[in-house]
Amino acid sequence: MKPNQGSSQGRDMSRLAVAARSAVEDATWAPSVHNTQPWLFSRRGDRITLRADADRRLEVADPAGREMLISCGAALFTLRVAVRRQGYEPEVVLLPDPDRPNLLADVRLRSGGLPAWPENERVYDQIRRRRTHRGGFKPGEVPESLLGALRREAQREGASLYLVEDSNAQAALAALTVAAEHMHRLIPAYRGELGRWAPAPGSRRREGVHETAYPRETARTEPDFAGRDFGRGRGWGIDASILEWLEEPAVGVACVLATKDDNPADWLRTGQALQRLLLRATSEGDVAAAFHTQALEVPELRELVRVHFCAGDHPQMLMRLGTGGTAFTSVRRPVEEVFTEKD
Ligand SMILES: Cc1cc2nc3c(=O)[nH]c(=O)nc-3n(C[C@H](O)[C@H](O)[C@H](O)COP(=O)(O)O)c2cc1C
Repeated sequence: MKPNQGSSQGRDMSRLAVAARSAVEDATWAPSVHNTQPWLFSRRGDRITLRADADRRLEVADPAGREMLISCGAALFTLRVAVRRQGYEPEVVLLPDPDRPNLLADVRLRSGGLPAWPENERVYDQIRRRRTHRGGFKPGEVPESLLGALRREAQREGASLYLVEDSNAQAALAALTVAAEHMHRLIPAYRGELGRWAPAPGSRRREGVHETAYPRETARTEPDFAGRDFGRGRGWGIDASILEWLEEPAVGVACVLATKDDNPADWLRTGQALQRLLLRATSEGDVAAAFHTQALEVPELRELVRVHFCAGDHPQMLMRLGTGGTAFTSVRRPVEEVFTEKD
């Protein structure tokens, strides 16, 4: 060994350890279904592994773990951006061990002293700013050029973004979300599960959808896309009258994110595509997303969406894009709860 080699390797490893921890902390700001944060990260040497925390899967709404893996895919994309920001190139292997289905990705941090590049910086800056919107949007168009860019972002991760622009198609899609929401409300187990992830006002839990994340009441959009009933008739939620445009709310651009196949790798790709396009949308004119994925949790309705709205691809996310979504807040668990490390 050359003199000082040991200590310079030690310095490299401790620099990498600090970078990895910081990147994981950023990754936890990804969106996740009901803010379940169903991920576990660990670092060993220069590798970070991402596992699904299957105890956090929604047993009633998400029996196959599809939405759990989409959430983890979103965290994985965020990790990739954050790792690059720290000057490392992330080398990702998805689902590295077929015998361990909860082992979702192995990410090697290849050190190359990469310079920060402006596009990655811009995307990185949105990680904690991005917020899920609930309710109508400010009237106004999302620029065509941005929609084109978002479609390309989805394709880069192996997914397709279908825009639902025709007014009849939009009304039909909205009606499916309304039907799904009513069906969910008929199922006590579904209501119970939603209740477990919608903490009461004042709760100190760092997970779930808190009352500061949704409006108490919203004016209906035309057509109206049903929102999840996080408040469950208890009058919870923030007073949305502070958002003056909600008097005359706009639907925004309805769209479906879909994949050719429908297996765990596709769900992870969807999550990466989702976060990629959300961060890009946030960085350009503060375009936010409101999600309405209830219809994709009812197999018969999901099949209708597949056949009629995304050319036979498998629908993974249903959302509206628009501006004006800055009033809500969200929470995350501290990084120590989701991250372990060993050199
Ligand atoms: C797979 C998936 C499905 C989601 N479905 C819905 C939905 O149907 N309705 C909704 O209001 N939010 C939905 N969300 C958004 C989450 O509730 C949100 O990401 C979480 O509460 C964290 O908040 P944040 O996105 O503002 O950080 C979904 C998110 C994911 C990843």
